[in-house]
Amino acid sequence: MQKNIIIVCFVCFMVYIYPIVKYNWKRQHMEFFATASSGTECALQDELIELGFNSVRLNSGGIPFLGEMEDGWRACLVSRIAQRIQLVLRRFPAPGENELYDGVKSIDWTPYITPEHTLAVSAFCHSSKLTHTNYIAQKVKDAIVDQLREVHGSRPNVDRDDPDVRIFVFLGSDRATVYLDLCSKPLFQRGYRLEKGQAPLKETLAAAMLRYSGWDRTTPFWDPMCGSGTIAIEAGLWAKNIPPGIFRDKFGFERWANFDDNCAEKMKWMRGECRRYASGDMPKIIASDCDPVALETARENAKRAGLRITFREASIEDIQADGAKRVVVTNPPFDERMGVDADFYRKMGAAFTRLHGCRVGFISANIAAMKNIFVKPVHIFEMKNGNLDCGFAIYDMP
Ligand SMILES: C[S@@+](CC[C@H](N)C(=O)[O-])C[C@H]1O[C@@H](n2cnc3c(N)ncnc32)[C@H](O)[C@@H]1O
Repeated sequence: MQKNIIIVCFVCFMVYIYPIVKYNWKRQHMEFFATASSGTECALQDELIELGFNSVRLNSGGIPFLGEMEDGWRACLVSRIAQRIQLVLRRFPAPGENELYDGVKSIDWTPYITPEHTLAVSAFCHSSKLTHTNYIAQKVKDAIVDQLREVHGSRPNVDRDDPDVRIFVFLGSDRATVYLDLCSKPLFQRGYRLEKGQAPLKETLAAAMLRYSGWDRTTPFWDPMCGSGTIAIEAGLWAKNIPPGIFRDKFGFERWANFDDNCAEKMKWMRGECRRYASGDMPKIIASDCDPVALETARENAKRAGLRITFREASIEDIQADGAKRVVVTNPPFDERMGVDADFYRKMGAAFTRLHGCRVGFISANIAAMKNIFVKPVHIFEMKNGNLDCGFAIYDMP
């Protein structure tokens, strides 16, 4: 009798409870990967933890976290530092092209792509037998379209420039990881910066510099070489709690096959919530530059971002001590793209040392130039600006 009760309980558990538990576990344990530009990983990890994402880990090249699909959507909306948010679909051994093809084909692609969608595949590899990234991407694309042709009788087309679904494949030590990109355009393309100045900084890099600078978002802020205004605008958005993603019309996941009306409603609600919380006060933010054309560009960009920033035409050499406590973060020209000499850096160093009591941070690919600041840096963060190896040096001016 007792044995029968145990069997009945076990069957009930397997039939009714286990599928629910398994479904919820899978829902909540989707693995995401937030990609980061080299050197910004720690800032991104800090940001994702602060924003309440789960199981956030430090990794080179990006930060993994776990969550439900909606957490991936939220990350696209709120992360200032991530370059892309990707869903990890599958990891499997792929020592050869057949294993790669079979592994990719064993993933169910029907929730994301139909024959009416377009797709693009990009591949990266290291320390693997397959070394030709174009060939790897081709094999992956073949596996996906072959599966969809078997299901639907026709296949989706490739669109490299603006695909509905973007897939990334990474082959490392003969193991493949297949990622589905949630963003489409990378996240640094916020939507407010239509006008670019000379040598603009990526918005995501500017956001990482602000976090590394230790700015508390209430102390007055100044970028004295603002160019198109990226750093000052990112500072304003952060201070006012305005999520950078709300300027974007659509993310990649909003074009997937499974993004139905119900999902669209949820996303609309999420955007609304983001706007509702975007109401923080902003300290005085000053952006100056010696170039009036750059200032005009910055003004237009700030207007599009909905921020009241104080713009001034001024040269860095004219900085005078005024006793104000500010945080200064800036991106001076570094001869690579803008042709400046050592004398410029000496003048800049002298100007910064007149900012008594201020914290000053600047990024430069000209590491020798940092010697012209006659104060020991509190910290130098190594990071990449595009292909350039840079240092982001932080000083507390005595
Ligand atoms: C690398 S750009 C800044 C780019 C900016 N972070 C952006 O995202 O657009 C350097 C800026 O420094 C400005 N600049 C150069 N010499 C200057 C000086 N002596 N005083 C003030 N600004 C200067 C240039 O006009 C240029 O806009």
